[in-house]
Amino acid sequence: VPIAVFLSGRGSNFAALAEAAEDPAYPARIVLVLSDKVDAKGLDLARAKGIATAAVARRDYDSRDAFDSALEAKVHEAGAQLICLAGFMRILGRPFVERWEGRMLNIHPSLLPAYRGLDTHARALADGVAEHGVTVHLVTPELDDGPALAQARVPVRPDDTPDTLAQRVLVEEHKLYPAALAAYLAG
Ligand code: GRF
Repeated sequence: VPIAVFLSGRGSNFAALAEAAEDPAYPARIVLVLSDKVDAKGLDLARAKGIATAAVARRDYDSRDAFDSALEAKVHEAGAQLICLAGFMRILGRPFVERWEGRMLNIHPSLLPAYRGLDTHARALADGVAEHGVTVHLVTPELDDGPALAQARVPVRPDDTPDTLAQRVLVEEHKLYPAALAAYLAG
C-alpha cells in the first residue's frame, strides 16, 4: 500500500517506518513525506533515502480548508492511499479528516485516553504516574481521540525528567508504529 507520512520536525518515526518498509515483505511503501515546515529534519532524511518530499507552509494559504486541500493534492499526486501522521504538529480540519477516516493513523506519546495534546511526558511526571507509553490510533476529527490500534508501555522511574522519559517512550514508538501499521493493513 502506498502511504504518505506527514511530519513537522525530527522525523525519527518516519525513519522507523522507512526502515521497516525496506523489507519487500512489508505491506506499506512510503511514496511521499510531506511537511508543513520547509526546514524539517525529516525532509532531509527522506531526501537522503530517495523518497519524494513536499513542503506546504500554512502561511501560504488563507484558510485551513485551502491548506488542507493543498496537502491533499500532494497526497493524490503521489498516489498515496493512506496517511501516517508522525510528529505532524498541525490540526487537520474536519472535512479532511472525514475524507481520510479509516485511512489515517497517528502516533501519540501517551497511553491514550490519558494526556491528549502537548507536553505529555511532563504532565505524566507531574501526576506521578507509575506507567507511561505510546499509542498508535486512527485519526478522527477530535484531537488524539480515535480508536487505538496498539499501545506500548514503559515504567516511569523516580529520577526521570521529561527528556529521559521521552527517550524511553521513543524507543517503543519506533517499534510500535511499523508493527501497528503492518497489523492494520493485514486486517
Ligand atoms: C513523537 O514523540 C510522536 O509520538 C509525537 O511527536 C514526536 C515526533 O518525533 N507525535 P519524530 O519527529 O518522529 O522524531
